[in-house]
Amino acid sequence: MAKTIAVLGVTGNQGGSVATHFLSLGWNVRGITRNASSSKALALAQQGISIVTADLDTPSTLIPAFSGAHVIFAITDFWATFLSSYPELKKISNRATGEYALSEEVRRGKAIADATAHVLKEEGVLERFVYSTLPNFTEQSKGKYTYCYHFDGKAEVSEYLKGKKELWERSSLLNMAFYTSNLSAMGAILGVTFDKENGKLIWNKPGANAVLHPWVVPEDTGIFAELLVRSPPKQDLLAVNEMASYNAFMDIWSEVTGVPSEVRAISVQEADEASPGGLAREAAESNSTSAEFGWGKHLVMPKDLDPQVRLTTCSKSQLGEKPQEKPYTATNPSLNTLFSKTAQPTFLPSQLRENDS
Ligand SMILES: NC(=O)c1ccc[n+]([C@@H]2O[C@H](COP(=O)([O-])OP(=O)(O)OC[C@H]3O[C@@H](n4cnc5c(N)ncnc54)[C@H](OP(=O)(O)O)[C@@H]3O)[C@@H](O)[C@H]2O)c1
Repeated sequence: MAKTIAVLGVTGNQGGSVATHFLSLGWNVRGITRNASSSKALALAQQGISIVTADLDTPSTLIPAFSGAHVIFAITDFWATFLSSYPELKKISNRATGEYALSEEVRRGKAIADATAHVLKEEGVLERFVYSTLPNFTEQSKGKYTYCYHFDGKAEVSEYLKGKKELWERSSLLNMAFYTSNLSAMGAILGVTFDKENGKLIWNKPGANAVLHPWVVPEDTGIFAELLVRSPPKQDLLAVNEMASYNAFMDIWSEVTGVPSEVRAISVQEADEASPGGLAREAAESNSTSAEFGWGKHLVMPKDLDPQVRLTTCSKSQLGEKPQEKPYTATNPSLNTLFSKTAQPTFLPSQLRENDS
């Protein structure tokens, strides 16, 4: 009989990928959302995903949503909380929004761990809990960068999870690298502007832009989650398709879109001053930690778990078409994988048209 995976965040990037991937493998997929009648939830239901309702802010709703599942995949959404409270909290201080969003994320993450531990104890059915997390960047940067709230909160939940011994024996951590879709999804937040006069996209990035960063194609989340389900527990996996510098990323972007681009190095201070309130600083310090300190040697790489794991590649010529797959090779990576299948050659973020520099 097919096993069941319960997916929290099914209408989002990560959960959506996990749900459709496991569905394609023949699993029973239970998708968890706050709103079963949203267009995304209805579309998932049409594909054969069983949609149930639960809300992290009402933890008791998680128990029936998780009950009977052999695998639970869970995310918490830092940015929705951050962005909705930002207009008010940024008036208080540069840290107020980040501190609030972190506390909310930790509360919700702990609620997930508690509910998962509860169903494990009551039923004993659960085989694997996969929690989407991030490393503690305050620790990783040895205290140099302390504004990486969306990293540190998730790391706090990971530590809480490790303290639940019985559950931790059946758990693994999935650290999602920088999404390749960030430029299109949240470019304006990340310091991207459009120089209308010269027709050029400018990514104002703190830190050395020739340094390699890890990038993940979010549509591959399901592949990484499956890797953790078929590997021994207690893994701390970096979900990464490719290591590449911002310079290399934007070179490819320009090649694909035909729009000239430039990565302009700025300091954390300059980013903060250009957009005070903590949002620019959060992004700037996250990027600087990645550039200067990396994500942590403790993290396992996909090829360590399965040298043959197949990840999405998407070359310039394949954009808009179904991406082909090829074996992952960390030693000979193709920059073409930087672009997910949703990238559009003519893309220009709509926010940038409104915020032309
Ligand atoms: N962008 C990056 O480079 C990057 C890299 C690593 C990690 N991350 C992390 O990824 C996370 C977001 O993941 P994503 O991109 O998959 O999110 P997403 O596409 O924005 O979707 C958010 C999901 O969270 C669900 N959700 C939100 N609040 C909920 C609640 N109270 N109860 C139940 N479900 C709730 C939503 O479900 P409904 O609305 O349907 O209820 C939705 O499915 C963030 O925490 C971010 O820090 C991002």
